[in-house]
Order: sequence, then C-alpha cells, then structure tokens
Amino acid sequence: MRIWQELQKALQILKQDGVVGIPTETVYGLAASIKSDAAIRRIFEIKERPFFDPLIVHIGRAKQAEEIALEWSKTEAQLAQIFWPGPLTIVTAKKPDINSVITAGLESVGIRMPSHPFALRLLREFKIPLAAPSANKFGRTSPTTEDHVRSEFPDLDLFVLSGGKTNVGIESTVIQVVESANQILIRILRPGMITKSNLRAALETFGKKKIEFEELPSAASPGHLENHYQPAIPLIISSRSISSESASQIEKKFSLPSRSRFSELVLNSDPLIAARDLYSQMRLLSKSGISWMYVRKSSDRQGELWTSIWNRLDRASSLRLE
Ligand code: TXA
Ligand code: MG
Repeated sequence: MRIWQELQKALQILKQDGVVGIPTETVYGLAASIKSDAAIRRIFEIKERPFFDPLIVHIGRAKQAEEIALEWSKTEAQLAQIFWPGPLTIVTAKKPDINSVITAGLESVGIRMPSHPFALRLLREFKIPLAAPSANKFGRTSPTTEDHVRSEFPDLDLFVLSGGKTNVGIESTVIQVVESANQILIRILRPGMITKSNLRAALETFGKKKIEFEELPSAASPGHLENHYQPAIPLIISSRSISSESASQIEKKFSLPSRSRFSELVLNSDPLIAARDLYSQMRLLSKSGISWMYVRKSSDRQGELWTSIWNRLDRASSLRLE
C-alpha cells in the first residue's frame, strides 16, 4: 500500500473509534482520537497498561496546545517554538474537558508535537489530537519499526503506518515548567535526547536568566517505573567484560543452565546512534537464541545524552555488576 493510501486508512480507523499504530521520530505509538473514550480505553486494554499511567497527547500544530492546556504559558510556548515538532513532551495543567482516562485521573496532561512526517501529516489531516503511548505491552521495550509493533501484538489485526525505522530511538524528554517571579524551574520527569543544556540554551535565547533544573525520581512520572523497558531475556549491566566466574553467578541468579549462551549488547560510541539502535538491538539479541545479554557501562559512555540512554538501560536491566 502506498503511503497516501495508508494515511487514508489510518484516518478512517481513527474516525470509527479505532486504534492505529503510528511512527514518531522517537518510537512507534498506539494512537486514538482524544475525543473517543472507547478507543482510549482500548489502548489501555491492548497494552495491558494500568490505568494509573497517563498517555501523551500528540498534536499537529503548536496552537492546539492552547486547546488542551488550562493555561499555555509564554515559556511553554517558547519551548514549543524551539523544540516542536520534536521529542519534547510538556506536562501542564489540563482543561477540564480533556478525558481523564488519558491523564490517568491527573489534573495535568503531557503534550507533544512529533516530527515524523507521517505522524504530522496524520495529525494535521485528522485535526483532533491523538492520545498515544508507545506501542508495546506495558513494561516492555518500545518499538522502533513497524514490524516491532506487529510482533508485539501478533493476535491483533492492528493497522500500523509504515514509517520505517525511527530516528531518535528512545522516548521523548518529559518536562514540567514551574515559574515564579524570578526564576524558571524545569522538572525533568523523563530524560531523553533533548537535554538540560538544550533546554537552557533555548530559554536563554528568550532572555531568561535564572533557570533551575530538578530531576525527579521515576515515581513523579507515573509509568516510568524502575522495571520498565524490559526485554524478553535478562539484561545485565556490567562495568567490565563478563568473566566465566560472573557468568556462573548470573546463571544461578536467573536459574539458567550452566554455560548458557550470552552476548554483549555493544553500544555505538556516538550516543545519537546508540539511542537510535538501542531497542532494535535489544529485540534482536532477545530473539537470537541466547539466554541473557549484557551491556558494558564503560567510562567513555558518559555525558548528558548518555545519561538518558543509561536511564532506559538501568530500567531494562535485571542486575548490575560492578
Ligand atoms: O516519545 C514518546 O514520548 C512516545 C511517542 C509514541 O510519542 N510516547 C511514549 O508514551 O513514550 P508512553 O505512554 O510510553 O510514556 C508516557 C509517559 C508516562 O508513562 C508518564 O511517565 C509521562 O509520559 N506522562 C504523561 N503524562 C503525564 C502527566 N500528566 N504527568 C506526569 N507524567 C506524564
Ligand atoms: Mg512506553
């Protein structure tokens, strides 16, 4: 099917209260009209996602944020101007008419405008914003290709727009802006490839001076749990190459047969490439017949972008070895 036909089909499904798989620049999402209570509930059902975990609302035009947010502040609009379309989600107080199933009963809502051309096109044609979590079973690795989405839900007749491999590879940065008379506090609810330095630089271009950051523990971002992004086989983080001694320790811990096969998940030295390939590598290794895998937390994999990558790996891992 040509992309134009695919878009028409996706629009039709959305109009009929259905759910579609959509590419974004970060990861694939499962999208439903924010006006369709049935479709929103269906997302939670398909994902086996608990109702305490809020969905992000995706928009096709920055102006639409004003229809969703109770008050869209000047600072929020400025950040949107710089980073949208792109991998930044802004959590802000919601208007009362935004379905509280989307926000898991919270008074706040996460909003973002994705930059993938198919997602943007769909959003602009559909006109109504789309609530969309990552298109994976709850707690599992996010999909970065359309095939990942299909293999995540093999028993469903789910329509997925074929947008190719996603470019960013890990989920958007989620922030909240807290303003007082003389300072701006940016709360990082989930780190991502838009970093504190990026946010600071953007705010400085608008003449903002006193900018503080607060990194919140995962509890502040419902759903961003300690054991999230789990691959199908154990992932171990190790500061060194794994010796046979530590391998047997791992086999015992996970009740695996001794001398079971394992592989190293090798991260590219460029964090942009490492992030882009991370989830597909995890999936590939999980399916390669090995019993477990490990990733080396080496000292050269440090810095802001790496912090976001390690945030995902820490949550995906079952064990950490010094
Ligand atoms: O890159 C992304 O953000 C992808 C693509 C599909 O856009 N979406 C994504 O959605 O990662 P999901 O549902 O897997 O993660 C959304 C997370 C929630 O688990 C929660 O941590 C945070 O965003 N979030 C959403 N709304 C929130 C709110 N009102 N308050 C605090 N955190 C919120
Ligand atoms: Mg997710």
